[in-house]
Amino acid sequence: MDYRALAQKYDTPLYVYDFNEVAKNYHAVKNAFKARKSLVAYAVKANSNMSLLKLLADLGSGADCVSIGEVKRALLAGIPSYKIIFSGVGKRDDEIAEAIQKDILYINIESEAEAERVELIAKELGKVARVSFRVNPDIDPKTHPYISTGLSENKFGVDIETAKKLYLFAKKSPYLLPVGIHFHIGSQLTQLEPIKEASAIVAELAKSLQKIDIDLKFFDVGGGLGIRYKDEKTIEPYDYAQAILSTLSGTDYTIVTEPGRFIVGNAGVFLTRVLYEKQTASKRFIIVDGAMNDLLRPSLYDAYHEVEVVGKNGDATLADVVGPVCESGDFLAKDRLLPKTEHGDLIVVKSAGAYGFVMSSNYNTRPRPAEVALEDGKDRLIRERESFEYIIEKEIRFMV
Ligand code: LLP
Repeated sequence: MDYRALAQKYDTPLYVYDFNEVAKNYHAVKNAFKARKSLVAYAVKANSNMSLLKLLADLGSGADCVSIGEVKRALLAGIPSYKIIFSGVGKRDDEIAEAIQKDILYINIESEAEAERVELIAKELGKVARVSFRVNPDIDPKTHPYISTGLSENKFGVDIETAKKLYLFAKKSPYLLPVGIHFHIGSQLTQLEPIKEASAIVAELAKSLQKIDIDLKFFDVGGGLGIRYKDEKTIEPYDYAQAILSTLSGTDYTIVTEPGRFIVGNAGVFLTRVLYEKQTASKRFIIVDGAMNDLLRPSLYDAYHEVEVVGKNGDATLADVVGPVCESGDFLAKDRLLPKTEHGDLIVVKSAGAYGFVMSSNYNTRPRPAEVALEDGKDRLIRERESFEYIIEKEIRFMV
């Protein structure tokens, strides 16, 4: 990747995604499950750029969505409704209604109250809603507490006993059709054992439902496959698939996976230019034109992203790479060995394809960065850099 040429052409800060790598990652997950019927429902939240979704649609991917906005994005990008899942702990009535009307594959329900709500709305619409229930297997996924979701102390899903009750409730209802079972224990998972344990618990439940004539079609194992940011030992898709399938012998479920980070994380970088260097009594700062509003992960999770000064080696000393936002928490990297930089030098922040642009904001009235795709050796703009006018458009006409 010629980062300098891209920065020259599109300016900085800039997100760049390698679409060939995205395709490769998609196929890696799909192939891992080739022994079974399977659906890769890409977790749109990780990166919802329309061109990226179009690429995944063309590859045959489905979509796991957490708002009706994401459902609409997926449909617009060409992902068919029968490959779209709608998850999330807090769906609004209008979102539920629209999902039912759009005839998506299923709605993932996360509480008793939600089940009643979905039933009521389906009844009002005179439709049958296909549903699955998210089971919380109470397993520690051993990841960052902010992105761990499968413990009873987390807000997600229902426990096994409640899930049983809900399947019986759905079976009796003329407006609900239980078609799937779902779990997702966390994100950036690097250990196989918790996934296998969770899968075993949920498989057991699915099999016990079969005995009472609740025949499910989809076994949805969520997302969470981790990637390498630094030196993590990650899980191979093949081993992941084997661990899950080992809990499902004697069954014929279609396996649904919801990978987000694995598909796009390492396929993307964030490019930012050096504005100044500054040395205080205790620290060296490299101040760049990208900030926490563009890439929030370091500030929010203390997440590690590898950084490199493009084309420079030389004597390296410790430095923090920080943005212009007026917060001490505004940093992209801390205590890294980096060479002396000058105004205009380019810094590449790696593994920024997932949960990068989508978590960006206009904090400090900073326009969101442009996004560029690389495919077969060519680059193309896939989201225009925001302008000042675009940011204030929704306010300015109300000024009196
Ligand atoms: N399915 C469900 C139900 C989820 O909650 C998530 C992520 C996924 C799938 C996709 O997980 P993945 O394969 O990407 O790990 N902003 C955080 C990550 C939040 C993940 C939330 N749920 C970060 O930057 O690390």
